[in-house]
Amino acid sequence: MGSIPGPELDERLSAILSICRRMNSERDLGALLDLIAREATHLLACDRASIFLLDRERNELWSKVALGSPEILRLDARLGVVGIAALTGETVNVRDAYADPRFYTAMDRQTGYRTRNLLAVAVRNQSGEIIGAFEALNKRAGAFDAADEECLAALASHSAVAVETAQLIGELRRRQDELVEQNAHLWREVESRYSVQGIVGTGARIQQVARLIERIRDSLVNVLITGESGTGKELAAKAIHYASARARRPFVALNCAALPETLVESELFGIEKGVATGVQPRMGQFQKADGGTLFLDEIGDLSLTAQAKILRALEERVVERVGGRTTIPVDVRVLAATNKDLPAEIARGAFREDLYYRIKVIHIHMPPLREMREDIPLLAGHFLKEYCRETQRQPMEFAARVMRRLCASDWPGNARQLRNEVMRMAACARGSVVAEEDRWEAMPSPGGGPAPASQPRPLKAAVAELEKRLIEEALRATEGNQQRAARQLGLSRQGLINKMKRYGF
Ligand SMILES: Nc1ncnc2c1ncn2[C@@H]1O[C@H](COP(=O)(O)OP(=O)(O)O)[C@@H](O)[C@H]1O
Ligand SMILES: [Mg+2]
Repeated sequence: MGSIPGPELDERLSAILSICRRMNSERDLGALLDLIAREATHLLACDRASIFLLDRERNELWSKVALGSPEILRLDARLGVVGIAALTGETVNVRDAYADPRFYTAMDRQTGYRTRNLLAVAVRNQSGEIIGAFEALNKRAGAFDAADEECLAALASHSAVAVETAQLIGELRRRQDELVEQNAHLWREVESRYSVQGIVGTGARIQQVARLIERIRDSLVNVLITGESGTGKELAAKAIHYASARARRPFVALNCAALPETLVESELFGIEKGVATGVQPRMGQFQKADGGTLFLDEIGDLSLTAQAKILRALEERVVERVGGRTTIPVDVRVLAATNKDLPAEIARGAFREDLYYRIKVIHIHMPPLREMREDIPLLAGHFLKEYCRETQRQPMEFAARVMRRLCASDWPGNARQLRNEVMRMAACARGSVVAEEDRWEAMPSPGGGPAPASQPRPLKAAVAELEKRLIEEALRATEGNQQRAARQLGLSRQGLINKMKRYGF
């Protein structure tokens, strides 16, 4: 520092301070690099100044070509004076460029600019790591001296912080944009997966369910969904949620039957710190669902005490944590499901009547699979398609005898059981045709479960008729495009053509 004369030192230091203030409020990397270059040119009374940033992966230095220009100049870090500064950390002061072997003359030839003298210093971040180099070209009078070296080094060290901050912010913004994009994509996926179209079935009752869900999409009434296990109660709850204005708020599902009595309250409403030793505060499911939907699955299995608390939360729209003294407001739509006969539970004193009326403003009943047997082929095809999509396999189809067997089986576990069976067979299938013959043991056989409610029809004929109808529909919907119709039906194109031949299309 000794070589800088007093007054000039003061002036330069105050200039550097004022540059720093401006640098620190500039968050855009491009604008920041411009600012630094411009100020360095003034400060060192030279023609040009620029900061080069080191790209270690490529062993390259990059910089903006000119002030205000978005264009980027890249150079090999192993060539030239800035490269030496960036790779070794040394300050390089070249007084006569064309007489100095360190100077890389090709650069001048490229830019058409003639360098007489130049000064380069390394730019280090706070941990001392070199992130680039600072270069000043052509001192207007004479050559760069020791004072210029000090000055450029001081400016370089202050620039580093601002540059790193701007780089970080740029990176964060890019990631943020990416996340926003991804998020929008995921929402589109979720919404289409759980749309009413995800509820498959052509029977009058299931169609009625789908229509009802469409109809209540704009209201936020509480809905009770009943039906045997595996009939799609949760699927319906999701369709209701994702069709509603709350679609992009949380859908929180809670299985009441799986909750031990002692945990029900803290699970639903949360717990305050210090209720017992070692207890951490926890948010309850009601609060997690705030603004969205809480799906209380198997609500018929809740104790009377828990029922009373839920009723209070629904009526007063507040929850109180276990061990808490204040109430927390919550805005939750409740969908409840059960496979129990709630009126019967009420009659025997196991379910509160007031809660029942509170949750069943609308009642949806999911039919068991035995009452929609005509939809078995469609459902099976739907699940097979789902399997192929999830495992990214080519479209598959069922061998005719497999389909016959699926249609003839009892499904006491309803659509869930059918789905599991289809998934299992698809996973075992070798080619694109599900034609397993050696694995029937796992299939529920006719007569094994409860007797089917409907009269057995000549099954083969019924299936053929349904297949024919579905194919007609698919062809109509796709305006005769066999490829797309086949895809819709979960068949290969050849599979569709075979069937069309068989049915005399
Ligand atoms: N009508 C249907 N259309 C399409 N998939 C169905 C249908 N019914 C049930 N499923 C599927 O069967 C499985 C079980 O359904 P789920 O909603 O969990 O039944 P529940 O809650 O009544 O026990 C899920 O994978 C669901 O997607
Ligand atoms: Mg369920």
